[in-house]
Amino acid sequence: MEIRTIGVIGAGQMGSGIAEVTIHSGFETLMMDLNQETIEKGKGRILSDLEKRVQKGKMSVEEKEKAIQRFSTTVELGDFRECDFVIEAATENLNLKQEIFKKLEGVTRPQTILASNTSSISITTIASATHDPDRVIGMHFFNPTPVMKLIEIIRGLRTSDETFRLTKDLSLRLGKTPIEAADFPGFVSSRLIFSYMNEAIYAFYEGMGKAEDIDTIMKMGANHPMGPLELADFVGLDTVLSVMKILQESFGDKYRPCPLLQKYVEAGYLGVKTGRGFYLYEGGKK
Ligand code: CAA
Repeated sequence: MEIRTIGVIGAGQMGSGIAEVTIHSGFETLMMDLNQETIEKGKGRILSDLEKRVQKGKMSVEEKEKAIQRFSTTVELGDFRECDFVIEAATENLNLKQEIFKKLEGVTRPQTILASNTSSISITTIASATHDPDRVIGMHFFNPTPVMKLIEIIRGLRTSDETFRLTKDLSLRLGKTPIEAADFPGFVSSRLIFSYMNEAIYAFYEGMGKAEDIDTIMKMGANHPMGPLELADFVGLDTVLSVMKILQESFGDKYRPCPLLQKYVEAGYLGVKTGRGFYLYEGGKK
């Protein structure tokens, strides 16, 4: 099967980042979100990123225009009927994802691959809501998607070899490195990255150091590009909390979310996107 048209569900940080990568790699892309405001925000992010590439001399104006022509948006899932490959990047919630996959199965062609960008939910569990779990797979991108080279690929118990092959192939065509991980909640990446961020929040909560100091220790001591608290703000504290809850539910209290994380989320301190997390932000900058 030749993949030409990609559907992306969700226009948030991950969905718009994925759509930017797919249009840049030459694929017709349809990005869907229920909320028109989120679509406009996601679209604005893509256009501004492409413009930055032009200014840096990494892309010509003509290439940028062509990429934009490959891009369209919708609020209707029914418009995905022509897509060869769909990547779901909706909120990290099992019921929501299962609902989306059930609907997608109904509107797409039987050979269309249905991938989830879930960071934590088992692919076998998501696929169990469909009649055709052999075409469901995990395709886990990292933030910021245009920059990060990895795609973690997760086969559900019933994912077919053909679905896996086409997903791996597509990842390479997107300029990424696909690595397979087993289908347990959190896979490899989220199990490690999120428990690391959660542990840093515990360290802060227990008064081990100021946020800046905890981050600097890890930046300078482990050569990480961002400290763990800064990274948590960047990813979104609501996402960190929901992933930790899934890990805790699956593997026990070793993954208990820090009470301070819970409190911050309840207070609306979600990180960069709300202007406050462990740091204060204005226009996305500290
Ligand atoms: N979108 C697109 N491009 C971006 C970007 C964004 N949000 N942020 C930075 N970039 C680009 C810049 O334009 C720049 O590109 P050029 O090299 O072409 O000029 C490049 O990235 C480097 O950026 P900066 O020089 O501004 O800053 P930096 O060197 O500090 O890099 C960073 C920024 C890439 C975000 C870096 O800090 C980093 O790698 N941080 C860690 C990211 C990380 O760990 N991500 C995983 C999160 S967990 C996850 O994603 C899993 C999940 O399920 C949620």
